[in-house]
Amino acid sequence: RSVLRNELPGAEVMVISNREPYIHNLEDGKVVLQRPASGLVTALEPIMRACGGTWIAHGSGSADQTMVDEHDHLLVPPDAPAYTLRRLWLTDEEQDGYYYGFANEGMWPLCHIAFVRPTFRASDWEHYVAVNQKFADAVVAEAKTPNPVVLVQDYHFALLPKMVRERLPEATIITFWHIPWPNPEVFSICPWKEEILSGLLGSSILGFHTQFHCNNFLDSVDRFLECHIDREHSTISAGGCTTQVRPYPISIEWPPAALSVQPPVEECRKSVRKGFGIGRDTMLAVGVERFDYTKGIADRFHAVGSLLEAHPEWIGRFTLLQIAAPTRSRLSAYRETQDEAEKAAEAVNKCFGREGWLPIILVPRHHEPEEVFTLFRAADVCLVSSLHDGMNLVAKEFVAARDDDDGVLVLSTFAGASRELREALIVNPYDVRAMGEALHMGLSMPAEQRQERMRLMREMVGENNIYFWAGRMLLDAARMRKRHNIEHRIA
Ligand code: G6P
Repeated sequence: RSVLRNELPGAEVMVISNREPYIHNLEDGKVVLQRPASGLVTALEPIMRACGGTWIAHGSGSADQTMVDEHDHLLVPPDAPAYTLRRLWLTDEEQDGYYYGFANEGMWPLCHIAFVRPTFRASDWEHYVAVNQKFADAVVAEAKTPNPVVLVQDYHFALLPKMVRERLPEATIITFWHIPWPNPEVFSICPWKEEILSGLLGSSILGFHTQFHCNNFLDSVDRFLECHIDREHSTISAGGCTTQVRPYPISIEWPPAALSVQPPVEECRKSVRKGFGIGRDTMLAVGVERFDYTKGIADRFHAVGSLLEAHPEWIGRFTLLQIAAPTRSRLSAYRETQDEAEKAAEAVNKCFGREGWLPIILVPRHHEPEEVFTLFRAADVCLVSSLHDGMNLVAKEFVAARDDDDGVLVLSTFAGASRELREALIVNPYDVRAMGEALHMGLSMPAEQRQERMRLMREMVGENNIYFWAGRMLLDAARMRKRHNIEHRIA
């Protein structure tokens, strides 16, 4: 907030994302609020609570359609209104083409190396273009000033920066890409690669999680577009517009709001074990994700099998509790991921389980942040085995939940978070045996070493928190605005 006040005085802030921060669902005739399982929302919502402004998103809950008129604009959060949520409504065809089709069957597998073949359909692309235009129109309609700071989020809106730039040339457009960016070879299979790249180059600043993704983006532009690239300053100039490409590793609120309502760790340990029928002295690992094929959920179940085979002393003394929120279930790749994970869990349970004890408990439903934090506090180990992940905020949330300075994080080397959380046990999720060994190591680690590692990770996340992430982007944007003003004055 202070960066905005001091460096960008009077600036209007607007966020554009597909997912809305509060979903209104209808349950037994009543409207119930849900917080979506989305790293993007986890990261950005605290920023908007602190800064205010307008957040434009797709209205997605089951209660929405009945409340369209009165609830187009909402003041949120409901208990302490701080910013405006403007929701846009999409038809089923738009949602199928733009969200399920182009964004999640095209861009998502294109950008993640998880070996799911991207699917590109001309009809999906048309909806993607149209929905980007619809959101760009909403930005222009909602903007109260000619030069707002527009925060564009993710792979759903690659075309929007250019569309907004054409109509609000003075806007400061900061686009953040929450998922990886592939190398030019992989990217080249997208039939609309030039449009995607030049759409993104409407941004003043384009952020990725890591330098590696920035380099992949610069290489892609170099290969497929006519423009000037200044590698030293990491800027791209095309069509009279300059874009700065930078890494901004995303993070979480510190301390997280969900922590303030948590009972002491000892109580969490007891209540979670009791709630899931797990023995009082059983060592507990937790996994928390959406049921996505990039998360390596079945792989970690195989790793539990490998652990129990190599170290039978854990039989009857260890359980993995896996929470997985169903997601994008209309797509077959997602249904298959869930099927495969359920089968893997069953196989390990059948092989090693006994009367009164299961090695894996799989709970396929959404959990609210407060419940997730209680699980984190109850656990001895948190297991994040993504096959490929831009950042992964579950790893950072686990660290944030442990104000007792205890608990072991086992983390995939293919998650952006492994670049920062160096004191985790870093694993290759494709190597089941190594993952089993890492689990064994985590479960056997002496308390002193666990605490030392956790303290270092907590220092890292505490310092590089979400306000630091947003502050760095806004400071870069402020510098850009000042430079622009000086140049205009000279001209
Ligand atoms: C990832 C994406 C987000 C998305 C989230 C949940 O974190 O980067 O943009 O919101 O997954 O996915 P969903 O499709 O349910 O919004």
